[in-house]
Amino acid sequence: MTVPPLIIAPSILAADFARLADEVRAVEHAADWLHVDVMDNHFVPNLTIGLPVVQSLRAATQLPFDVHLMIEDPRRWAPGYADAGAYNVTFHAEACDDPVALAKDLRSAGAKAGLAIDRDTPIEPYLDLLPSFDTLLIMTIKAGFGGQRFIPQLLDKVRAARGHVASGHLELRIEVDGGIAADTIEQAAAAGADAFVAGTAVYGADDPAEAVRRLRGLAERAATGA
Ligand code: DX5
Ligand code: ZN
Repeated sequence: MTVPPLIIAPSILAADFARLADEVRAVEHAADWLHVDVMDNHFVPNLTIGLPVVQSLRAATQLPFDVHLMIEDPRRWAPGYADAGAYNVTFHAEACDDPVALAKDLRSAGAKAGLAIDRDTPIEPYLDLLPSFDTLLIMTIKAGFGGQRFIPQLLDKVRAARGHVASGHLELRIEVDGGIAADTIEQAAAAGADAFVAGTAVYGADDPAEAVRRLRGLAERAATGA
């Protein structure tokens, strides 16, 4: 079995918002996706950026956008991000009463569809929905803020999802988000994650591109058991 290539997705939540285009270009040749955290001050207490920023940034980089919507009423807003050219649009299971219908909308708008599972949400009720999705984002913190401490127990959900994906022969990326850094990425990769969001660990580093390369090396070794 070939090991699929790993995705490293720097989160611009930890970047300098006054220099966003430069911050994105700093990881342009090292990263695979750019993770964009959209928060609405309702689904989570924090407030970040929305569609106009995503539209402007789209012209500033070649990197695929991995949009993580931490918002209420994603059915209303999510397709707009697909229309704006996002590669992958992920919304939260907790905010949506018909995730499969929204996944369908996103795919017909030309994007990959992602389902996010927050810290306190069990994975089991959602496993049967996974054939409708391209990405499963498992929070390894409580959604809402960067810079929080990684919760290793949440990797049990990654293991459960990876087992389900393997037994069902599904094509699905399993992404982890929250507290991913040099001292945590290996355990997440060993648990079966193959996409890794990192905010503080990338933009808190002196050289963000080098930080991405280092994370990739650690994840690759852990994923292949080398
Ligand atoms: C938090 C966001 C994360 C955040 C991660 O709710 O979804 O993407 O940027 O930041 P770090 O890597 O600092 O935990
Ligand atoms: Zn995120």
